[in-house]
Amino acid sequence: MAQNDWKKSVVYQIYPKSFNDTTGNGEGDIQGIIQKLDYLQYVGVDYLWLTPVYESPMNDNGYDISNYYKINAQFGNSDDLKELIEQAHQRDLKIMLDIVINHTSTDHEWFSEAYSSEDSPYRDYYFFRRSVNNAPPTNWESKFGGNAWKYDDKTEAYYLHLFDVTQADLNWDNPQVRNELYDIINYWIEFGVDGFRFDVINLISKGEFKDSEKIGKEFYTDGPRVHEYLHEMNRRTFGDKDMMTVGEMSSTTINHCIKYTNPERQELSSVFNFHHLKVDYIDGEKWSNAKLDFLKLKEILMEWQLGIYEGNGWNAIFWCNHDQPRVVSRFGDDSTEALRTSSGKMLAIVLHMLQGTPYIYQGEEIGMTDPHFTTIDQYRDVESLNAYKSMKLKGYNESEILEILGQKSRDNSRTPIQWSNERNAGFTSGAPWIDIPENYDKINVETAIADKNSILHVYRKLIKLRHEHDIVTYGSVEPLYMNDENLFIYKRHYNGTTWLVVANFSKSSIQLPKDLNIEGETIIQSGQCENGTIDGFGAIVIAQ
Ligand code: GLC
Repeated sequence: MAQNDWKKSVVYQIYPKSFNDTTGNGEGDIQGIIQKLDYLQYVGVDYLWLTPVYESPMNDNGYDISNYYKINAQFGNSDDLKELIEQAHQRDLKIMLDIVINHTSTDHEWFSEAYSSEDSPYRDYYFFRRSVNNAPPTNWESKFGGNAWKYDDKTEAYYLHLFDVTQADLNWDNPQVRNELYDIINYWIEFGVDGFRFDVINLISKGEFKDSEKIGKEFYTDGPRVHEYLHEMNRRTFGDKDMMTVGEMSSTTINHCIKYTNPERQELSSVFNFHHLKVDYIDGEKWSNAKLDFLKLKEILMEWQLGIYEGNGWNAIFWCNHDQPRVVSRFGDDSTEALRTSSGKMLAIVLHMLQGTPYIYQGEEIGMTDPHFTTIDQYRDVESLNAYKSMKLKGYNESEILEILGQKSRDNSRTPIQWSNERNAGFTSGAPWIDIPENYDKINVETAIADKNSILHVYRKLIKLRHEHDIVTYGSVEPLYMNDENLFIYKRHYNGTTWLVVANFSKSSIQLPKDLNIEGETIIQSGQCENGTIDGFGAIVIAQ
């Protein structure tokens, strides 16, 4: 692909632990990815993003890195990664690594050095602060629950951890830290990777350590020096290379995201934001059980589409990842096979016709569902287990908690890929590290390939449309009928061509607006759209 062609590409996210196990230990590995490259080429995607494969105690499944230069033995070694890159390149697939540099694991040698002595040169790699009146330095909350500072008796100081206590935040204000981090990125560029996903990268500039009226976010989200640091990182590492980068932005704003991605500023290629996925929260609280607020979903998606386009920035667009529940269960309907299929296709069409780089999370392309776990023993995720404890303390009863986890837990998307209807869904010959949903006998890759009407074939077609029609990549977006309670309707415009996208988010058939012109050539369709009505979960794209 030529420079800039990354804009026309589609990324497939691999969660290696749940992808494909070749050793029988119940966890996926890099050789397992190599085995499935032909399948990924068949799906038609351009980039593979691997969530972290570095050495790690795996308290947060690899987002707690203890050595940035080493591959976690659980996944293989650096020769395996080399082989993966080579084999991927032979199939025109590119590899993006996940770079987690807001924090390290407390098992990292920098932290061990820093923790044990106040005089260590590594002390200033992290944020160690004395207590204030026997209390933590600030009242900020960790994103995984509890106060964000952990006390260390030995040096009578606290260190900052915005995530788990084993994930200590790095001090980017220290130029030595930045040098070390740029060295790491350059090492992987040399190694041969084609791009990077930067974990919670808008949290790296911490600002002032002051008590917050909320949970502290306002001090470190899109912090005071974040743009300066990202520009510096760009210049010192990938900036002059033909590489695609995407930054994960927590609780960010459109204005910041324009700055992060407008090419003139030389920061990143694209950004993820999560506002459109908080539309089933109650008052911003994730651990709640709420229905989708459809009008809000449309409003947020469209606000970002228009805002980022206007500012010449670039969005990454997605429904699913390893931190989010499965979208068919969440915004679609997985209660029957027919509804699962129609809603899975509709959601794919709506997303892939938007502007930005689409991300497909492993298993999404076959419409994998949440596992609907029924006991707490089935959960593995540190955030979910903390939330369980904290909801218990708040007095919720077991069944309420399980219902909330069933809707929101990150483990919903972390169950292994369902490859076939063989034992353990063809994922492992051993005991899988997390339970596999029972529906694997019907929902699996083998069945999806064989069934020409499966969700998978819609994804394949959507990827092809993006590659073949510039309107999908470059066209402007015109939101329509924003107050319609069931229909998601918008147009794309490019060089005198218009594409109309109509999707029905309800399971019943719906009357189309009387003044909507649906004449034209059908580009892709799922369900019927005729005589002024569209099928339940139907979707259609028409060139006009
Ligand atoms: C990101 C990752 C998530 C991880 C967190 C801390 O949000 O996607 O899985 O727990 O960062 O690294």
